Amino acid sequence: LIYPEMPKHSLVVLIGPSGAGKSTIARTWPASQILSLDALREVVSDDAGDQGATGDAVAALHLLLEARMRRRLFTVVDATNVTATAREPLVAAAKRHGMLSIAVVVATPGSVCIDRQGPRPANRTVPKDVVAQQHQAMVASHRTLKSEGFPEIVFSDSLCRLLPYLERLSG
Ligand code: CTP
Ligand code: MG
Repeated sequence: LIYPEMPKHSLVVLIGPSGAGKSTIARTWPASQILSLDALREVVSDDAGDQGATGDAVAALHLLLEARMRRRLFTVVDATNVTATAREPLVAAAKRHGMLSIAVVVATPGSVCIDRQGPRPANRTVPKDVVAQQHQAMVASHRTLKSEGFPEIVFSDSLCRLLPYLERLSG
């Protein structure tokens, strides 16, 4: 996996549908620096796939994020984050503490994300139509990320290689 240097005082917001490879990318950083929504679903409900636990898991994530941003610690948020509504409180927490928000768009093709659901345990399988919808939302996000408060946007291909976004667009 190839990564650009990330500045120390950064909040990395992974963006991508289920199966895109977000957790695979997140795992290249130390575990203490990753706030994973799936892991927090498991913490609050004993089941990482319990969608009914999402509200409590998101509240826990926001609380932990605030604690880390206040300490100005490098942090990676591992959740789909495909909507501006999901991203807004993350950027706001970073901004409150003078942290740089970096969007990492995990732009794996929708068909690959769907194929990757196959071998997963039943409680972690996301339905095909939901994955397709998440993929569309991610694609639509590209246009608004700058104005949402992400001065840095990094693009990942399906092999989880991170490339500078503009380099990818011009190549
Ligand atoms: N994978 C792969 N090659 C990659 C990246 C991921 O084969 N370059 C595989 C992983 O091994 C995993 C699956 O694709 O089995 C999904 O990757 P994961 O990182 O778990 O995807 P997430 O985006 O984290 O999905 P979710 O939102 O459902 O947690
Ligand atoms: Mg994951």
